[in-house]
Amino acid sequence: MARVTGGITTSHVPAIGAAMDLGNTNDDYWVPLFRGYEFSREWIKENLPDVIVVVYNDHASAFSLEMIPTLAIGCADQFGIADEGWGARPVPVVEGCPDLAWHIAQSTIQDEFDITMINQMEVDHGLTVPLSLMFGQPKAWPCRVIPVAVNVVVYPPPSGRRCFLFGQAIRRAIESFDEDLNVQVWGTGGMSHQLQGPRAGLINAEFDAEFMDQLVTDPETLAMKPHVEYVREAGSEAVGLVMWLIMRGAMGKKVTERHRFYHVPASNTAVGHLVLENE
Ligand code: DHB
Repeated sequence: MARVTGGITTSHVPAIGAAMDLGNTNDDYWVPLFRGYEFSREWIKENLPDVIVVVYNDHASAFSLEMIPTLAIGCADQFGIADEGWGARPVPVVEGCPDLAWHIAQSTIQDEFDITMINQMEVDHGLTVPLSLMFGQPKAWPCRVIPVAVNVVVYPPPSGRRCFLFGQAIRRAIESFDEDLNVQVWGTGGMSHQLQGPRAGLINAEFDAEFMDQLVTDPETLAMKPHVEYVREAGSEAVGLVMWLIMRGAMGKKVTERHRFYHVPASNTAVGHLVLENE
């Protein structure tokens, strides 16, 4: 049977991808950021999964105001790289895992999560920056990827509790898939995050630290945090942190925190990163 073998969270700031694509990772601005991922790059070499379920949000690349799925799963063989205005990032095409993706769709829908199935889609920095942070710049990504897209861009996003329960449903789906696969679940986006308006650049390091603590030790309580608290305390785009709760729901009750990294700034947001293993 398939099993969930690890969980990762990371911010997906597009400027990080640009720094890698343009060869700027040794600039003083970026050195501390990439140092924070050195442990994780070694860890994942030793814990390479067959498939990664990457929970992310699309930034008006595959979707638009014309169509806004709340929860969507990519069931295609491959996902091309979206052009977000400066040409597609020079990163490998993302290879999907249709059999497992369809199984997750079937299992979670029968488990009462009405997820949208997507057979053709390009993926943007929300998904590719986490892959770049973890794997560097390979010719091909070393594992297959199932994109799970969550609307956190247009009001109303799903609640933290809904996301946590959805993560648990993803775990049940993976564990009922009849193939011997190691699967990781990644939650991306966040942390403190306000990209526009008079509060642009707002950083609340205390909120971010508490969020990471609670995600590890008490996700059930964290899942009850209302949207307005994310927005008020850590900025309007901080609500994207509900995607981390999907990852946490997919992990077991007790997890071991193998690595934590927090850094400010990248672009005008905070970067947070966790590597979790099931106990
Ligand atoms: C920015 C965009 C993002 O999607 C994100 O997660 C962080 C920062 C930006 O435009 O700077």
